[in-house]
Amino acid sequence: MQQKVLILDFGSQYTQLIARRVRELNIFCEIFPYNSLNFKIENYKAVILSGSPFSVRSNDAPKPDLSFIKGKLPLLGVCFGAQYMAQKFGGKVEASEIREYGRANLNYIKPNDLFFEEVSKGSQVWMSHSDTITKLPETCELLASTNDVKNAAFKFENEKTYAIQFHPEVYHSKDGLQILENFLVKIAKVSQTWTPDSFVETTVEALQKKLGNDKVVLGLSGGVDSTVAATLLSKAIGKNLYCIFVNNGLLRKNEFEDVLEQYKGMGLNVKGVDASARFLKELKGITEPEAKRKSIGKVFIEVFDDEAHLIKNVKWLAQGTIYPDVIESVSVSGGPSATIKSHHNVGGLPDFMKLKVVEPLKMLFKDEVRRVGKTLGLSADLLGRHPFPGPGFGIRILGDITEEKVKILQEVDAIFIKGLKEEGLYDKIWQAGAILLPVNSVGVMGDERTYEKVVALRAVESTDGMTADWVNLPYEFLQKISNKIINGVKGVNRVVYDISSKPPATIEWE
Ligand code: XMP
Repeated sequence: MQQKVLILDFGSQYTQLIARRVRELNIFCEIFPYNSLNFKIENYKAVILSGSPFSVRSNDAPKPDLSFIKGKLPLLGVCFGAQYMAQKFGGKVEASEIREYGRANLNYIKPNDLFFEEVSKGSQVWMSHSDTITKLPETCELLASTNDVKNAAFKFENEKTYAIQFHPEVYHSKDGLQILENFLVKIAKVSQTWTPDSFVETTVEALQKKLGNDKVVLGLSGGVDSTVAATLLSKAIGKNLYCIFVNNGLLRKNEFEDVLEQYKGMGLNVKGVDASARFLKELKGITEPEAKRKSIGKVFIEVFDDEAHLIKNVKWLAQGTIYPDVIESVSVSGGPSATIKSHHNVGGLPDFMKLKVVEPLKMLFKDEVRRVGKTLGLSADLLGRHPFPGPGFGIRILGDITEEKVKILQEVDAIFIKGLKEEGLYDKIWQAGAILLPVNSVGVMGDERTYEKVVALRAVESTDGMTADWVNLPYEFLQKISNKIINGVKGVNRVVYDISSKPPATIEWE
């Protein structure tokens, strides 16, 4: 059985980061809201209490009962988690005179199990708090201090309960990962067996047990998540996995053919369905972005449903859902938070959505999906692909969509992406693409006046797509690409580069 660590979430923006850092140590962990009723404590080897946007002094602050954890399992409180334990067990928390955000150094360290010799005096840690612990509970011993925070780390006597005011999970806490490792491995004795290899092995086994001889249908998108999910399932149930890859007519140049070929080469049981004409027909004349998305979504569901009906006795729908999509969030208004999955009104759904759902990646973060993909032998090319939105060029061709516009954008996009790859820039960028603007501009080619389309290029850096900044591409590169586009793509006479960050702009233009 895989050993697990429980992270109790009090709503901190860093909670997911704690989980990712723990996973980096090859230790499996799960996040639950502090007030969740969905976990069984006996399944865990150790517990971490997260930070929180709440002040422990506020009446609305989470006040969980820790009696079934503290003293029974190794426990680490981080920031709010530390303050909560201090306050609850006889210490005192007050508003800080100086609000402490950012870098601090541990200038006092008592030799102890949490820090060991690797974390020494002067270790840089990251603080983010406006309350401070002014008095420790009687049963605690002080382990470390910074200039401004005397009680920066402490331990409850005779139990494996530790508390730290700083955030070990953020990358700016230089020894943060070491501290987490000391707690989890040296103190809690959790085994470091969570590796892509072990994940593949146990997941394939579990899928075989769960699915038996049942047939499963899965929609491939060409992206990393659905491809890794398909490869895992295929390893488990072989030809009983039926993959469907739909061409909505809004894909990159040659993408449908190339990716389909690649999938077949990987041994997947995949059917390519070219429904371009159906999508473009439905989209005709629609200009409003949300209406376009809805139209594309609706046709996709119809096409997928038609195809799923062709597979006799299919029992399951597989999805490439990943962990950030399913983590329950802490409800700020208090009370147990609603589970993420909404209960659909089954009556109104297409048939394939009434199938049982299997989601083999739902416990993985994106970087873990890539690691698993690598273990499964997927090519670096496939695993490194930029995200591409489901509605594809439908939201990069502003205004109404025609086949001719799709062709123009495919050419422009192909030149841009090829250029990025050739210059070694592609892998340094989160996402890049071209946008066809709904305006013509005047130009001159030879002695002729032209009145043709304008395209925008967009390249952004990001870690999760939630915030993003435009990439400072070299001028020489932009110059070269602009020339290639204007000389090579008929119908385009002007290229601009998008220099907007997200927020306030979004990555896609529609
Ligand atoms: P925005 O434009 O909201 O995009 O900054 C953030 C990330 O999400 C992708 N995106 C989508 N992906 N279906 C998808 O599968 C969509 O409707 C969709 N809209 C945006 C976008 O490409 C970026 O990676």
